[in-house]
Amino acid sequence: MSNQNHPTIAVTGATGALGGTIAKRLAAREASQLLVARDPARLPELPGALHRGPATYDDTAAMRDALRGASTLVLISSHPTGKRPEEHASAVRAAMDVGVDRVLYVSLIGAGPTATYRNARDHWLTEQFLAGSGVRHTILRSGLYATTPAALADDELLVRGPGGDGRAAFVTHDDIAEVIATVALDESTEHDGRILDVTGPEALTLAEMVGAIAVSTGKPYRYEPETLERAFARRWELGVSGTQIEAWLSWYQAIAGGELAAVTDVVPRVTGSPATPVSRMDWWPAPDSAR
Ligand SMILES: NC(=O)c1ccc[n+]([C@@H]2O[C@H](COP(=O)([O-])OP(=O)(O)OC[C@H]3O[C@@H](n4cnc5c(N)ncnc54)[C@H](OP(=O)(O)O)[C@@H]3O)[C@@H](O)[C@H]2O)c1
Repeated sequence: MSNQNHPTIAVTGATGALGGTIAKRLAAREASQLLVARDPARLPELPGALHRGPATYDDTAAMRDALRGASTLVLISSHPTGKRPEEHASAVRAAMDVGVDRVLYVSLIGAGPTATYRNARDHWLTEQFLAGSGVRHTILRSGLYATTPAALADDELLVRGPGGDGRAAFVTHDDIAEVIATVALDESTEHDGRILDVTGPEALTLAEMVGAIAVSTGKPYRYEPETLERAFARRWELGVSGTQIEAWLSWYQAIAGGELAAVTDVVPRVTGSPATPVSRMDWWPAPDSAR
């Protein structure tokens, strides 16, 4: 599986949507890869890719074994657990222990210590850890996934939340994956120490976004803005935990406040192709399938 032109790239989260797409993009370019998973039996079979694991981020010893032989690590953020920065730090330490000399971390747009979207705060903590770690690294802050609003629709295809008429530059998994694969294969130091905000080509309101899903699927998806109080009460009555309610309300509120509306040129600049408008998406997740 050795490839004289490229480093060996370890990709975590390759049983998931983004890591799996990155792995496919890298395989298409004949990269040498180590695909790391908690359950390696679920990893895709790809040319040039070895399966490693089982390894969870917080198991530093297992991550060391899994990452041995890699020179670059693409670290997909873990699911929110309340301990994400520690989990990510464990994975990075394991990588450094076995000689990985570059980390590409998939962060989130708007990452900051006081970000409105709750999940963006621990991404910032991971970014800070990386900045102080001494390892070569690039932060790829992915925009809000274009797939998420369809997954938030209920069984009647209604998306409800306190998003007001704020805008977000929703981005496809494919575009994020293409940026990351391109940066991973670029052995120059151009992206070292940089933060790349990976966004879609247009900032849409939720009404426009959900309208685009309706056109694309031919089904009557629609968006209804809710007050914060109503949004809380409806979820609480459904038995959703306070932690989850906080995450989703803050997702809508970050959109309402315009924090995620900036459109960047990262996709075209890095990949050489325009970012994909949501009107060109041809796959949507099932209603009510958001984590
Ligand atoms: N930008 C956005 O709008 C947005 C939206 C949702 C999520 N995210 C973040 O982006 C990440 C990637 O998105 P995605 O669509 O690819 O999600 P996904 O399909 O759920 O994939 C997540 C991957 O990460 C792995 N993983 C999670 N926690 C882990 C841990 N502690 N140790 C090792 N592996 C772990 C999962 O492994 P298993 O298969 O074993 O579960 C899976 O392979 C998510 O994990 C989340 O942090 C961003």
